[in-house]
Amino acid sequence: MKPSLVLVCLLSHVAVSLSSGSSTLRDYHSGSPSIKGAAADKAVVKERWTTLPPIALGPRQEHVTLALNTSYLGVLGGITPFTTTNNTTSFNTTGLLQLYSLHTRKWLTASPAPEALNHPNAAVIRGEVYLLGGLYDRQDGSYPGSPRSYVYDPATDKWTSLPNLPESDTARGSAAMGVYKDIIYLAGGMSLLPLDPKFGVQQSVDTVSAFNTTSGQWITLPEEARTLPGRRDHAGAAVHNGVFYVLGGRDRGQVNVRGDVFALDLNHLEEGWVVKKGKMPTPRGGISAALVKGKVYTFGGEGNPAPGSDGVFDQVEAYDVAEDSWTKLEKMKSPRHGTSAVAIRDSIYIPGGGVKQGGAPVDTFDAFSP
Ligand SMILES: *[C@@H]1O[C@H](CO)[C@@H](O)[C@H](O)[C@H]1NC(C)=O
Ligand SMILES: *[C@@H]1O[C@H](CO)[C@@H](O)[C@H](O)[C@H]1NC(C)=O
Ligand SMILES: *[C@@H]1O[C@H](CO)[C@@H](O)[C@H](O)[C@H]1NC(C)=O
Ligand SMILES: *[C@@H]1O[C@H](CO)[C@@H](O)[C@H](O)[C@H]1NC(C)=O
Ligand SMILES: *[C@@H]1O[C@H](CO)[C@@H](O)[C@H](O)[C@H]1NC(C)=O
Repeated sequence: MKPSLVLVCLLSHVAVSLSSGSSTLRDYHSGSPSIKGAAADKAVVKERWTTLPPIALGPRQEHVTLALNTSYLGVLGGITPFTTTNNTTSFNTTGLLQLYSLHTRKWLTASPAPEALNHPNAAVIRGEVYLLGGLYDRQDGSYPGSPRSYVYDPATDKWTSLPNLPESDTARGSAAMGVYKDIIYLAGGMSLLPLDPKFGVQQSVDTVSAFNTTSGQWITLPEEARTLPGRRDHAGAAVHNGVFYVLGGRDRGQVNVRGDVFALDLNHLEEGWVVKKGKMPTPRGGISAALVKGKVYTFGGEGNPAPGSDGVFDQVEAYDVAEDSWTKLEKMKSPRHGTSAVAIRDSIYIPGGGVKQGGAPVDTFDAFSP
């Protein structure tokens, strides 16, 4: 694709915080310093952030991060920078699938997805990766939604096609993903991301779709569950006790950030979506989010108007599902947007992302211990 004003990449940022993964991820239960006696008065602060080995094949943003099992995570799709023949930086949408072993701390390369997609809609069920659309590069200055869907089996390292998303559901990327029992839910998303202004504004949608991984078919949700209370893309998502939460996100543009929490009881779909009372302290889109012990942790984001922020948020804020309330936590060490977080054994892993609004992908990989 053509270099664009939207994806302005400064390669000087690529080398930021790449200390070569010498620190070890602390175990919350056994490895962190204990607070006892006099030490407690001095408010010993637990080190929450750990730097991990950078993404092996280089910077990446607008990908998805997946927990394949308790020892491997996967990074799928997104945008990678490359140097053109005239020595400028351009960006490519990729189908690359990379795996990271939490034990050996090494990156591996797996079979790429059959289609190069950024903002992919993906989730893992029974160890298999479902890629249910995303945005593709039309090579005309726009990223439209792809309805094409696939499943990846890590045992054979093979991808297989699945039925397309039904046309009535609007092909899109950047949907909030929820997994419950054998069903994968896609809430909202974006049907067109214009790089060239002639394509107008970013097209956010309120559509909710569902894929049955047992039958291998898309299913039609009851009317009440089929539409979000508002259009959202680049939102956070989590399923807890059978309830699907969609947190924050934005509506037709990076700066149109939203702080709402939408919830849908997946056991009572006919009750429809509700808007929770608890609002994000800092409304943000382009966030990454992961659930640990009843709290959804949300990281960073895009569309920050604050001077000196490069348009990127550094906030870490946690939503307590039972309390319907938010807590502000220590900020990101390396603020990013356009990344994707995953929780494995109560640690949250956050590979890649962008360090400036629009572009500037990095290979930074860190983990957060709640
Ligand atoms: C560099 O090459 C790309 C195509 O690879 C082109 O789109 C761009 O305009 C070129 N930039 C300059 C400064 O020549
Ligand atoms: C390409 O750009 C880099 C960084 O600006 C510079 O160090 C390098 O010399 C350039 N290479 C060529 C062949 O122009
Ligand atoms: C860009 O992506 C396409 C599709 O995945 C691939 O065929 C091509 O080799 C990539 N180009 C670069 C420079 O990475
Ligand atoms: C986890 O997934 C990796 C990558 O597919 C695989 O090699 C490994 O055997 C799996 N481990 C377990 C315990 O299932
Ligand atoms: C999913 O598919 C299976 C197998 O066809 C079926 O038994 C089940 O009822 C479906 N679930 C939903 C929620 O449609």
